[in-house]
Amino acid sequence: MRKQVVAGNWKMNTDLESATALVKDVVDKLGRVKCEVIFGVPYVYLQAVSKLIKSKKNVFLAAQNMHHEESGAFTGEISAKMLRSLDVSHVIIGHSERREYNQEGNDLIAKKVNKALEHNLVPIFCCGEPLKIREANRHVGYVNKQIKQGLFHLPSDKLSKVIIAYEPVWAIGTGKTASSQQAQEMHEAIRKLISRSYGPSIADEVSILYGGSCNPGNAAELFGKADVDGGLIGGASLKANDFLSIIDQLG
Ligand code: PGA
Repeated sequence: MRKQVVAGNWKMNTDLESATALVKDVVDKLGRVKCEVIFGVPYVYLQAVSKLIKSKKNVFLAAQNMHHEESGAFTGEISAKMLRSLDVSHVIIGHSERREYNQEGNDLIAKKVNKALEHNLVPIFCCGEPLKIREANRHVGYVNKQIKQGLFHLPSDKLSKVIIAYEPVWAIGTGKTASSQQAQEMHEAIRKLISRSYGPSIADEVSILYGGSCNPGNAAELFGKADVDGGLIGGASLKANDFLSIIDQLG
């Protein structure tokens, strides 16, 4: 059975004081949740946030990136092993901002996925098409290729652990959300793609999140779709009440 997940992606925002205040605010007001709640925070706050969420059931910690090698001469980089030593359980891999600004391609992303899984970190694998691909009506093929090249080398017992986040690039940080029909169309296509290669029971174990200007006003509609298992939330995860409202709408 696939999990229901709301994951925040803070990106390069907050400072130590506002980061801890934000987590405290969310955790204090958060009742008992059935879904998984994940804080995707900058590396430098992982340790502080880890302490704040320790006693909370179903609340987890994610890094926003990691290096694909085990260790070594990679100045400024962070390894999977380092993340594990800070009680990090998830890691966002292949976010479109890293694909664009750090030239991360599917081959590199596949290596990061492998390294994360080797260390028992759950990859939150991001995919999604830019606007001109959507306008040319080539979005399904484009996203399928990202998924095949980034994930389909995995055996089924590993693939079933991955969380996929579909984030159309044109919807990220723009206030322009995909309609719930557009989200469902892509999520269904992704699940069918997994089903064709791995079978329906594995396809039903993979959680597929929607990301891109998800907010308290549109979350219920998006989460109501059959193949949308939650959200990866950027801007709205920086406001405690908005993030809580989105969590509430997933249940
Ligand atoms: P957004 O970002 O919610 O601010 O659009 C989502 C993401 O990039 O993960």
